[in-house]
Amino acid sequence: MEVCRGIMNEPVIIFNNVSKSYPLYHHLTGGLKNFLFHLSKGIRQMKGSRFEALRDISFEVYKGETFGIIGRNGAGKSTTLGLIAGVLKPSSGKIVIKRRVSPLLELGAGFHPEFTGRENIMLNGVFLGLTRREVLKKMDEIIEFSELGDFITQPIRVYSSGMLARLGFSIVAHLDPEILLIDEVLAVGDNEFQKKCLDKMMGFKKGGVTMVFVSHSMEDVKKICDRVMWFEEHKIKMVGEPEVVVRGYIDRNGFEKVKKDSLGKIK
Ligand SMILES: Nc1ncnc2c1ncn2[C@@H]1O[C@H](COP(=O)(O)OP(=O)(O)O)[C@@H](O)[C@H]1O
Ligand SMILES: [Mg+2]
Repeated sequence: MEVCRGIMNEPVIIFNNVSKSYPLYHHLTGGLKNFLFHLSKGIRQMKGSRFEALRDISFEVYKGETFGIIGRNGAGKSTTLGLIAGVLKPSSGKIVIKRRVSPLLELGAGFHPEFTGRENIMLNGVFLGLTRREVLKKMDEIIEFSELGDFITQPIRVYSSGMLARLGFSIVAHLDPEILLIDEVLAVGDNEFQKKCLDKMMGFKKGGVTMVFVSHSMEDVKKICDRVMWFEEHKIKMVGEPEVVVRGYIDRNGFEKVKKDSLGKIK
């Protein structure tokens, strides 16, 4: 027990007063056409204006912990994963990561649209520090898990977002991650695939892998997480016991809304 607690107390992800803002031109409220018609005025207005996606976030994730992140669309969950993965840099504050983090595999991050699924597996495996040979040994298993069939020889620009997510999870799940980042992968596959992912994650949990798990499925979050962090309006609303945090979130948003939220209909 003592040993166990000792392990759980070693922080491997540390956020200290982290904020992240994006330039405001990503949020053109008046539409692009309007903006182009009033170009110089628009640019003047935008200079220096930023949109804050995360405000003053501080938390720690411990070694071997499964840490859930919940919150409505746009709350800042994926931005947090991007910061952990090192794909994004904080605008202020400090982030310390003490173990090898699985890459965030999505277009624009670890995935290259013109390469086939198979080539993307090789590329990311080598990038993670494996030899070509080691990746080749795992290749069939990764492809089988992804259920992509013949699509594996197609450039991934033809993949649906669900197929990309499946390939991404399959790759990171087979390449010995120390910290595994999972962004809503369970939302995209069919039931069987979701179950497969959950089983895999349960295995990692037993094996002491640290996981950060973003999900809209409150059931899965309660099932698998040791602690949960709830984002509201780009800030931490609550961190703690899954039961308690999930209940607070549902009470606040209502079941209906949470459901619609996961389909992206309500913001
Ligand atoms: N590359 C970007 N440029 C500008 N704004 C962004 C970018 N990525 C995310 N945002 C904005 O930051 C906020 C948080 O986004 P995100 O972290 O993706 O939320 P979540 O994953 O919780 O749905 C959203 O309002 C989103 O529009
Ligand atoms: Mg997201």
